[in-house]
Amino acid sequence: MDREAAHSRILELRKILEENRRLYYVENSPRISDFEYDSLEHELEALEADFPEFASTDSPTQHVGSDLVREFVQRPHRYPMLSLGNTYSIAEVEEFSARADKALGTAFTYCCELKFDGTAICLTYRHGRLVQALTRGDGVVGDDVTENAKRISNIPHQLHGDYPEEFEIRGEVLMPYSAFDKLNELRVLDEEQPFANPRNAASGSLKLLNPEEVARRGLWCTLYHIPAQSLDFESHDQALRAAASWGLPVSDDRRICRNIDEIKAFIDHWDVARKSLPYATDGVVIKINEMAYQRELGYTAKSPRWAVAYKFKAEQALTPILSIDYQVGRTGAITPVANLEPVLLSGTMVKRATLVNEDQIRALDIHEGDYVYVEKGGEIIPKITAVELSKRRPGAAMPEFPKTCPDCGTPLVRQEDEAKWFCPNSDGCPMQIKGELLHFSGRKAMDILAGEATIDQMFSLGLVRTPADFYDLTLHQLSSLEGWREKSALRFRASLDKSRDVPFERVLFALGIRYVGETTAKTVARHFGDIDTLASATEEQLKEVPDVGDVCAKSIFDYFRDERHLIEIQRLKAHGLRFGVESSAAVASDALAGKTIVISGTFSISRDDMKALIEANGGKNSGSISGKTAFLLAGEKPGPEKIKKCEELGVPIVDEAAFFAMIPEGGSPAPSAEDKVEQLSLF
Ligand code: IVH
Repeated sequence: MDREAAHSRILELRKILEENRRLYYVENSPRISDFEYDSLEHELEALEADFPEFASTDSPTQHVGSDLVREFVQRPHRYPMLSLGNTYSIAEVEEFSARADKALGTAFTYCCELKFDGTAICLTYRHGRLVQALTRGDGVVGDDVTENAKRISNIPHQLHGDYPEEFEIRGEVLMPYSAFDKLNELRVLDEEQPFANPRNAASGSLKLLNPEEVARRGLWCTLYHIPAQSLDFESHDQALRAAASWGLPVSDDRRICRNIDEIKAFIDHWDVARKSLPYATDGVVIKINEMAYQRELGYTAKSPRWAVAYKFKAEQALTPILSIDYQVGRTGAITPVANLEPVLLSGTMVKRATLVNEDQIRALDIHEGDYVYVEKGGEIIPKITAVELSKRRPGAAMPEFPKTCPDCGTPLVRQEDEAKWFCPNSDGCPMQIKGELLHFSGRKAMDILAGEATIDQMFSLGLVRTPADFYDLTLHQLSSLEGWREKSALRFRASLDKSRDVPFERVLFALGIRYVGETTAKTVARHFGDIDTLASATEEQLKEVPDVGDVCAKSIFDYFRDERHLIEIQRLKAHGLRFGVESSAAVASDALAGKTIVISGTFSISRDDMKALIEANGGKNSGSISGKTAFLLAGEKPGPEKIKKCEELGVPIVDEAAFFAMIPEGGSPAPSAEDKVEQLSLF
């Protein structure tokens, strides 16, 4: 690859990886499998090694992903919380062991453990009492989830035995399969989106705002690492034994290995045995056991050189396709979904798998009745990855992709730049209308008590066609619905009332404008402040918003040129929904206009709030220092690399107090009820 191509691929990979990290760590809903993610990260590592001139301390290869969310207080980690180098190849484990042999030269041992598939946690015990629990966050600061951790049944609040005065211990919070299945069953009953896998469920549950709800989720913890700076032990294994003797949950499923053959035997054993464990594991971690040798090998920016994770490839199952359904989404997109002979895969029964689109059916060369391999990626619906040709029935035909909408019969269309076929009848196609209503009432949108069954019922009776119709329903109409009583009608009405307080950014998301997801809705809402300004924005103005590309800008622009949408918004506005941001989130001053600011370290307010404050005063946040940086806003423990770069480039460094002096007093968000802007008039 030439230099220029390498550079653009490096930039592209960084962007893809950062976005997928956000989906994985913050949204808890990954779109690609771990294997796909790891392959992309390895590709980036290799390119950065081949073209060191493009290396950057901001690259995802140089820092761990971040799980930080606004709702929690963030606290600094006493010792950085790093990640592990990982591989799917035994040859690379052999290389790791050969490197250790070469570097250490003497007799040493490995401690092999399971790689638990949950979400990392760091516990601090002082005088035997649990005093703090932090998530990994961005490795430097973590979210304080102490109250939630106290509701995890096997995390002791008080230690026993001969425990030290103060120490930190790290491990994983997991959701056992049994709790996961129960939780998802309840979510389906409540018409909520089930979690894709136990890892997402664990991570989502640890970040719940109600500790009592956390207690009900049945989370579980296993601990596997005491930072060497926290307590001095001769070996890692001894540290874990000691932790167990103080009453901490430590897995016994580990083994001291003396050479690569013993490591391989451990891996082979657990590749099979892990399937009978009550919780998810995704590999084996191999650590140099003696602390003196760990110190000798040290760390890279992101992970220890004394450990490596060998990851198991996603489990596959082979099963025949019984039939193919063609589902119509709320945007009219047609998705082929295979109905499979039910088969057990990673602890759950799989009955359906997505075939994505027509091209994918062709690429996989699917024929009717084929036996296919299914795998679980990031999505809740498993993917079909290959066909077992040896089992193909003679004369089996290729499935015929429908020419007309399976729901309303309208001829399907496919634009040149689209991978999917669409039903263009957005106004009349029942599946699309119901899909839009479901999206509008969803938890992340307006959070209205109307799931699939309710919407089906209301739609078939002709009561609801657009979201505004929900708000016109009378108590009498509601309580005469089949299975409803006055109480359910009142509950439904209460959820409508509550939706009037839903912030503008979520209302914007609820409208279901194509390509406007949750994050884009947030940035667009903050940028324009109210629906009037947004509705009159040109495509060029829309493209100025970070995250909004050509396609998205066109989609937003077109949306507001359709009179039906304008009428719908007017009706929703008349029902009291919010179409303007609260003044605290809007622009408070232009004191920082035209200034690009980089923040580093921790502050008296969360980093997210600090960033919001910069934006509210007209400034722009950036992650990396360059000649264009106006100043570095440095809190406690700023990154040394950043300070060094400022000194090199002559970029001023400003502390928190000096920063607050720059912005007017009212320039900081003051969220009070009176602060809400009046509903802005649209027309
Ligand atoms: S040791 C300095 N041991 O895997 C590194 N990590 O992909 C300390 N994990 O962030 C981590 N099981 O959340 C370690 N037995 C184990 C583990 C383990 C799971 C997680 C951990 C880490 C991630 C890296």
